[in-house]
Amino acid sequence: MARKPETDAATGVATTGHEWDGIRELDTPMPSWWLYTFYATIAFALAWVVLYPALPFVRGVLGADTRRQLAETMATERAKAEPILARLRAATPEAIAADPELRTHALAGGRIAFATSCAGCHGAGGQGAPGGFPSLADDDWIYGGSFDDIRTTISHGVRNGEDAEARGTAMPAFAQAGLTMAQIGDVAEHVLSLSGTGPANAAGATLFAENCAACHGDRGEGNRQVGAPRLDDRIWLYGGDKASVTRTIAYSRAGVMPAWQGRLDPAVINMLTVYVHALGGGEQ
Ligand code: HEC
Ligand code: HEC
Repeated sequence: MARKPETDAATGVATTGHEWDGIRELDTPMPSWWLYTFYATIAFALAWVVLYPALPFVRGVLGADTRRQLAETMATERAKAEPILARLRAATPEAIAADPELRTHALAGGRIAFATSCAGCHGAGGQGAPGGFPSLADDDWIYGGSFDDIRTTISHGVRNGEDAEARGTAMPAFAQAGLTMAQIGDVAEHVLSLSGTGPANAAGATLFAENCAACHGDRGEGNRQVGAPRLDDRIWLYGGDKASVTRTIAYSRAGVMPAWQGRLDPAVINMLTVYVHALGGGEQ
């Protein structure tokens, strides 16, 4: 029930005039520390809106812009790195590897570029992955492990249909190219025997000489010109059990790698070449 506001006798504070069952509501003022803090936050918010970007499309009078700051920092860092990048761009990978200072930069930069662009397929340490992604850390090379070979592979990629100089030829799918599944089974056995992982198969050996040796070599020693991998070393792109080898021969495989020329700075391609060469299998 509402009453006329009056002063409360016990506390000396004004009442609001509200009373329930004899209990009267006091009109105690806010503590002033609380009130002024509250006013201060309002003033702070208004000042912030004026000075900094707080509303859509409004920059604020200080013109603060973290996006621009980032661009400036990036530009400064790039300018700092440019002299060394220019040298890495101009030198050949051989020359970079022979110069201790450039080599250090190339290995550090190559490691980062590899993690960004290559590790997804070739594994974090270049150890390769099942399904046709070769190890870059061993001395088994499809296309060659010299600086020039590695740089060509990285620049143009493999069977990507986007680079006229891409590496890689097509292996026929022999299920459609004249062999029966029984013959494919025989030649698969012969392939396994080349690395000592299967019994000899005379019919398979004849079929191999007729159909496969032109690309893979008489004893399966491989051919870097056509990118036909070695078959005699127990290192497999697509698996070395009989089922996988049979599948490869019947339906063929065609690993694809993008061309990095035009996507990466030539300095980065040189750094990657030196890095991959140093992973363990680099050739002269
Ligand atoms: C989309 C997957 C993919 C990415 C990404 C990729 N590669 Fe490859 N790379 C392959 C495949 C697949 C092959 C094997 C092609 C074949 O079967 O002949 C290969 C082959 C290679 C070879 C040849 C190896 C040899 O034995 O001759 C080198 C060197 C190489 N890659 C380096 C790189 C580098 C460096 C990068 C990063 C800039 C990279 N690759 C990124 C898939 C990839
Ligand atoms: C025109 C050349 C060519 C001919 C002919 C050819 N191959 Fe190949 N073979 C290749 C190429 C290129 C690859 C690599 C495919 C890839 O990397 O994706 C390959 C891959 C393979 C592999 C997979 C090796 C691995 O590491 O996983 C096997 C096995 C193989 N060939 C067996 C044969 C057999 C058996 C024949 C004959 C019946 C044959 N090839 C005929 C070019 C050829």
